[in-house]
Amino acid sequence: MAAALTPATPLRFKPYSTLRFLSFYSKNPTTPRLFPPLPRRPVNFHSPFHPQRCFCSVISAALQSGEVKKTEFPEKKVGEMGSKVGEFRKKVKIADIKGGPDEGLNRVGQTLVVMGWVRTLRVQSSVTFLEVNDGSSLSNMQCVMNSDAEGYDQVESGLISTGASIWVQGTLVASQGSKQKVELKVEKVVLVGKSDPSYPIQKKRVSREFLRTKAHLRPRTNTFGAVARVRNALAYATHKFFQENSFVWISSPIITASDCEGAGEQFCVTTLIPSSREAADSPVIAIPNTKDGLIDWSQDFFGKPAFLTVSGQLNAETYATALTDVYTFGPTFRAENSNTSRHLAEFWMIEPELAFADLNDDMACATAYLQYVVRHVLDNCKEDMEFFNTWIEKGVIDRLNDVAEKDFVQLTYTDAIEILLKENKKFEFPVKWGCDLQSEHERYITEQAFNGCPEIKAFYMRENDDGKTVAAMDMLVPRVGELIGGSQREERLDFLENRLDELKLSKESYWWYLDLRRYGSVPHAGFGLGFERLVQFATGVENIRDAIPFPRTPGSAEF
Ligand code: 4AD
Ligand code: MG
Repeated sequence: MAAALTPATPLRFKPYSTLRFLSFYSKNPTTPRLFPPLPRRPVNFHSPFHPQRCFCSVISAALQSGEVKKTEFPEKKVGEMGSKVGEFRKKVKIADIKGGPDEGLNRVGQTLVVMGWVRTLRVQSSVTFLEVNDGSSLSNMQCVMNSDAEGYDQVESGLISTGASIWVQGTLVASQGSKQKVELKVEKVVLVGKSDPSYPIQKKRVSREFLRTKAHLRPRTNTFGAVARVRNALAYATHKFFQENSFVWISSPIITASDCEGAGEQFCVTTLIPSSREAADSPVIAIPNTKDGLIDWSQDFFGKPAFLTVSGQLNAETYATALTDVYTFGPTFRAENSNTSRHLAEFWMIEPELAFADLNDDMACATAYLQYVVRHVLDNCKEDMEFFNTWIEKGVIDRLNDVAEKDFVQLTYTDAIEILLKENKKFEFPVKWGCDLQSEHERYITEQAFNGCPEIKAFYMRENDDGKTVAAMDMLVPRVGELIGGSQREERLDFLENRLDELKLSKESYWWYLDLRRYGSVPHAGFGLGFERLVQFATGVENIRDAIPFPRTPGSAEF
């Protein structure tokens, strides 16, 4: 086994030492090496290549395998991204092969290498079919093998089975089958990692509840692979939209001492309770307390109570009042005990903040942003979207097309209440002016009253001239309900101080936030979009726990 990287080993950004990976090759390999090691160099103890350090660069070695010709990665992309990209992008993905308009026919006759995981294996009398998936697309590569292929014995002996990882080399040929245009005629197969017969992701369909208990393996299913790719496309489109519109991305802190939403639903971050392994047997008495029997926060890591952030908004406001238009995109945490299909304890939020802007600018930005990311997914994730349309939510593509093309309906809170009252429908939570709209109301408005159109209702958060309402909005969408919450912020110092007093919040702890109103205050507005709700909306998955790789919910933090 290779030596561990010692702390004294500096990262050297020199040729040959830039990308070093620890290798886990045994010194006396019993199985053939997939990637041959680098050639030996003269021994120099001070060099990072000294054998005792035993580093082996997986990436460099892979480049030397030379199985895949340089031309297989599109030259144009290499040119756009710089020549080094061509050096590491040697691996041809199944999406590269089959993703084009002719689904791979242009590569017929090429010798290719595919690396991935076996989805199914069918042994027939004269030929064996292996379906291999590498996660780059829904499509598998059908690999067709005769008994004369090198490595066939591993298929025969059962070593290569569902779930195993393999390396296959062959010639791309036109397929006889109707399901795909091309298939790989295998010349050589190498088992990279075998799969125990207990592998739980077999071909038969399994419930999403079951797959939540296998969150480490569920990305190997069609549904979760597709959700991961669409989630990735939404994140990419998010950055693209804001960058193209001159917003600056800000990293807001994850640990904070302020409660942005004021709802008190925060997770405490403390070292007063012994951490990790000893936590189970730590006596309560070990927590430092004051003479009055209260927790002595002065002894805590930050010298005062600290929490995981519920929103990056307050910090975003500081940068908006310097850089004008900014956005955050990061994890947020809420300790609300909501066991619903729309709530997570850890979720990602996108929070743009616009200076010299009011609520109308805010709503326009939210609309443009949503239409942009939806269009991006429709244009760039066609195969996955068709899969969702067939298997997850019939009509999801039409629904998204409507969002990308139609105008959004805007209505005031009062109008929304009137619509609900007029319907005379029995809701679990009765409707009356002044009540908080519940998810059943939100879904009713978007799904029934407006026939699937998204809707923005203007609540009001910066105090309006009537002194009763505030300038705020929520964007509601079909299936999800509230996707976005935003507002124009109170930019007047005296109004803000009064508000803090009313809510019995300490002005001292918000001193820096108040300073923004003291020094060059400007009208500004922003919103927060729950990223997992966007993933739900775009894919049609019913439960938010299936829209994030590792959901954290009350009572559940496995994986
Ligand atoms: O409406 P919220 O609470 O607004 C804020 O946090 C503001 N500070 C945002 C801002 O103006 N910058 O949350 C915003 C969005 C919601 O509309 C919802 O989509 C999502 O965050 N959200 C959740 N998503 C998953 N699980 C939860 N527990 C969520 N709570 C809110
Ligand atoms: Mg809200």
